Amino acid sequence: MSNRSIMLTDSLYEYMSDVSLRESPLLLALREETSELTQRSMQISPEQGQFMALLARLIGARRCLEVGVFTGYSSLATALALPDDGRVIACDVSEEWTAVARRYWQRAGVEHKIDLRLAPASETLDALVAEGQGGTFDFAFIDADKTNYLAYYERTLVLLRTGGLVLIDNTLWSGRVADPEVADADTVALRHFNEVLHRDERVDLSVLPLGDGLTLARKRG
Ligand SMILES: C[S@@+](CC[C@H](N)C(=O)[O-])C[C@H]1O[C@@H](n2cnc3c(N)ncnc32)[C@H](O)[C@@H]1O
Repeated sequence: MSNRSIMLTDSLYEYMSDVSLRESPLLLALREETSELTQRSMQISPEQGQFMALLARLIGARRCLEVGVFTGYSSLATALALPDDGRVIACDVSEEWTAVARRYWQRAGVEHKIDLRLAPASETLDALVAEGQGGTFDFAFIDADKTNYLAYYERTLVLLRTGGLVLIDNTLWSGRVADPEVADADTVALRHFNEVLHRDERVDLSVLPLGDGLTLARKRG
């Protein structure tokens, strides 16, 4: 018995996956295809995808934002959890990686739910705010360049409705955030981001040791 989160050994991780993962064959195929890329570690874990889908369903999400698509695992997991008229506005800058994502969205029959915007995400989010879409999104996932996390978070908060949920990935950054010897730009940015969220009274907050650290922030009224 312990009152802190359990350490996951390889065998316990395997056990947890065995008794809980319900990954669809297409999500599995996407994970296998992405595993051939040198950037494969950017992909979220399957249990995180399943958790995100559960959260999207729990809050009855219809309008979603994603910042950082890569080959499409998180956007596909989210889109599969939405009703047929649900939408994900998906932001990325890579034509090459999102071409893989598009193929899988199409194979899964969810391409009509995903609106890919190929531009720096801050520009896309600013445009949505300027169009008057503030307060209209239910769910958001931030998983792109770490030094811009605060900029994405601030814009996302404007775009979320009261009670809407934003998830932020990599907030424990393989433990580097807790090592004072590490001072590269991404680690410093993530440390600062975590501190700002801790103080942010506009949201309810939880940081989960899931994947590489997943922060949940629910917009308060
Ligand atoms: C960690 S990966 C996203 C992983 C993805 N969520 C998944 O489930 O596989 C980060 C992505 O952010 C994108 N990115 C980097 N800088 C960006 C920016 N300024 N605007 C939008 N996307 C950006 C990269 O092209 C990359 O595809």
